[in-house]
Amino acid sequence: MITLDESLIRGRCADTALADTIRRAQGELRSLLAREGAGAGMLGWLDLPHAEKKDIDEITDRAKRIQDENDCLVVIGIGGSYLGARAAIEALPAEAAFPVIFAGINLSPEYHGKVLAQLEGKRYAVCVISKSGTTLEPALAFRLFKSRLVDRFGEQGARKRIIAITDGEKGVLRRIAAREGYASFPIPAGVGGRFSVLSAVGLFPSAAAGIPIREMIEGAESALDHHSKDDPRNAALRYAAIRCLLNGSGTAIEVLSTFHPELAALAEWWKQLAGESEGKEGKGLFPASAVMSTDLHSLGQYLQDGPRHMLETFLSAAEPRADIAVAADAENPDGLEFLAGRSLGCVNRMAFEGTREAHAAGGMPVLTIETQRITPDSIGALIVFFEIATSISARLLGVNPFDQPGVEEYKRRMCFLLGKPESP
Ligand code: PA5
Repeated sequence: MITLDESLIRGRCADTALADTIRRAQGELRSLLAREGAGAGMLGWLDLPHAEKKDIDEITDRAKRIQDENDCLVVIGIGGSYLGARAAIEALPAEAAFPVIFAGINLSPEYHGKVLAQLEGKRYAVCVISKSGTTLEPALAFRLFKSRLVDRFGEQGARKRIIAITDGEKGVLRRIAAREGYASFPIPAGVGGRFSVLSAVGLFPSAAAGIPIREMIEGAESALDHHSKDDPRNAALRYAAIRCLLNGSGTAIEVLSTFHPELAALAEWWKQLAGESEGKEGKGLFPASAVMSTDLHSLGQYLQDGPRHMLETFLSAAEPRADIAVAADAENPDGLEFLAGRSLGCVNRMAFEGTREAHAAGGMPVLTIETQRITPDSIGALIVFFEIATSISARLLGVNPFDQPGVEEYKRRMCFLLGKPESP
């Protein structure tokens, strides 16, 4: 279960304004669940937590084959076609033991040269993920890795090592997959990139890494039940309402801070979800993140004493999955012997609690979103929690959460600079 602690926000949102905004959020939730309102055609993500058993089995079986026949999997994709899988894999190191390497996430020759070097002498398969099939980064990476597979295994051998995840019906990659006979999974209709993590887009790489995706889906399904409740106590609605109120009263940035470094990639996924869903028509909080306690030694000063135009939301797990005791060293003069034998998880928790109190005392509005432990089901639940909250939050701002018209402008200019021929 995911909880929201609002105790350090008091005084920043007037009770009547909060109650009123929560009522509006309930209205937006009803409209979302009735598949109405802005972007109504892009609500297929609400069905993903009710995935059919046969679809999960198919993904799991194919993933098992990848593990049996290879040393690693190269996953090619960017944005919504990559961040969710990486978030799950990095959050769950105990499960994700099979190496998954990401490519097509930038245009850097150094990065891709390093990936190719890592693959020297290894058996690997390539999973290319792109809803449109035309995104520059994954399309160029796919050319590169496909040509290496062909050099090594021949045309036929390469085909057997490629899996495509793309639109079920249309698009360049669907056409290529059909022509070449690649194994493939569809991205269901009405599911946009950043809301696709619980489709094969996020589930296949996660399963290949070793994550029990059925547990992820179960967590997602129960979070969907819980956070679809038309109830003013619904934490997803309250979070959306508080963000909206703060945004309307001078808060420009939300920093998602975590004392769990394994959630750093989940914060990256959230940044895309929030940024692309809300940042439109001059509106929306700028989503940033901080990984503690590391970033206390770089951003801590700013968070404590910098301009008060930020909301800090801590993403926390109540208990660590595994703990370590602080080593005893009676002769050590560092003054830390009082911690000998204590759990490192407890020290981390106290650092978190001390930090959020300090930041709140410094005038920062502070929220805490908490799950019990970081497990496959709680990752599924967090994904759904943020998807619901972000959709409601964007609609409260009056923007369509499910489009991203602003990302076309740089592409147009880049294509011009590269001399792209006009489409016939
Ligand atoms: O959320 C989105 O729609 C984007 O971030 C896309 O996922 C990203 O641009 C990749 O697009 P595609 O899957 O078509 O390659």
